[in-house]
Amino acid sequence: MLLLIKNADVYAPEKSGRCDLLLGGGKILLMEPDIRIPGRYCEVIEARDLLAAPGFIDGHVHIMGGGGEGGFATRTPGLSLTDAILGGVTTVVGCLGTDGFTRTMAGLLAKAKGLDEEGISTFVYSGSYGLPLRTLMPSLEEDLLFIDKVIGAGEVALSDHRSSQPTFEAFAQLVGMARRGGLLSGKAGIVNVHLGDGPRGLDFLRRVLAETELAPSQMWPTHINRNPSLFEEGIAYAKAGGFVDFTTSTLASYLDGGEITCSVALRRMLEAGVDPGQVTFTSDGQGSLPDWDPAGRLQDISVGRVTSLFPAVRKAVLEEGIALETALRVITANPARILKLKAKGRLAPGMDADLVLLEPGKLEIRTVIAKGRLLMKGGKPLAKGMFE
Ligand SMILES: [Fe+2]
Repeated sequence: MLLLIKNADVYAPEKSGRCDLLLGGGKILLMEPDIRIPGRYCEVIEARDLLAAPGFIDGHVHIMGGGGEGGFATRTPGLSLTDAILGGVTTVVGCLGTDGFTRTMAGLLAKAKGLDEEGISTFVYSGSYGLPLRTLMPSLEEDLLFIDKVIGAGEVALSDHRSSQPTFEAFAQLVGMARRGGLLSGKAGIVNVHLGDGPRGLDFLRRVLAETELAPSQMWPTHINRNPSLFEEGIAYAKAGGFVDFTTSTLASYLDGGEITCSVALRRMLEAGVDPGQVTFTSDGQGSLPDWDPAGRLQDISVGRVTSLFPAVRKAVLEEGIALETALRVITANPARILKLKAKGRLAPGMDADLVLLEPGKLEIRTVIAKGRLLMKGGKPLAKGMFE
């Protein structure tokens, strides 16, 4: 069945005026004013009072759960389809975190395939916090070459007490492997880098750029808003051509401790002259949010949510005065380009039929369509995961 969306105010993410969108076979077939199709061939959604945006891409989600930093009982649960729908998230990239032992690449891939069957698009990174990387095939290059869903490596932890404390050489070699595997497979081959609070900050990433032939496009550092000094480093790193990712899941104690709210972080990056194409938001959904005391003892632990992703963009628009088309880029066109997801992140004929309809003004999510299937209408989810 075709789906025809009528009269939407389209943000592709650039402002594109009023258009109809015809969806079929999981793709956007047409995007132009006044498309006429006999009603018996299509379901029509009247969107005269709504904005249309690309489905949101969340490039860092612990889809099979993460955590465990306080023992087995603190292992976090996996992502539900309902959370993805409520968050307008139609594409996720799954990762392992601190725990690359009880959580495995096989399990991550199985969970990604399950979410795909349930209705959203999924990809994964190979490995976890530690180096050497534990891949599914004998090498990262082979994971990239032979496993469709693998698009990079990570999240590899640096400047953090939970990292495997890799040498600079080991990290640079990993980025080189990702580069080689990415080239051979036609994928991003990007290393998703977890940054902790440690004083070394982005040092290894800067050294990769200064001491090797590798380009900034091979690394995607995340949690750059976690403290003021890392954020300042992030501004300089982004101005030098690097990508920077901010994490939307947070705790009041993190913000009290100096974490910079994503919406403010985006405004400050733009004010500093950073190209808006260099900045992304991800949720760290289903990851643990541990609260450590100054001695490194775990005080409390809670769980990140993919539903935090779009509210951060909404806040950037409504509270920081950033244009909607600019703010939307950080969860649509930018991650699609950085991750080389060619059919994602934009509304245009030929792209995947992933889209979100928003209420103007309040920017509430009203309708979610993933791979051409209606998953939310009128603010109500229409689908559930297998065991929800
Ligand atoms: Fe992380």
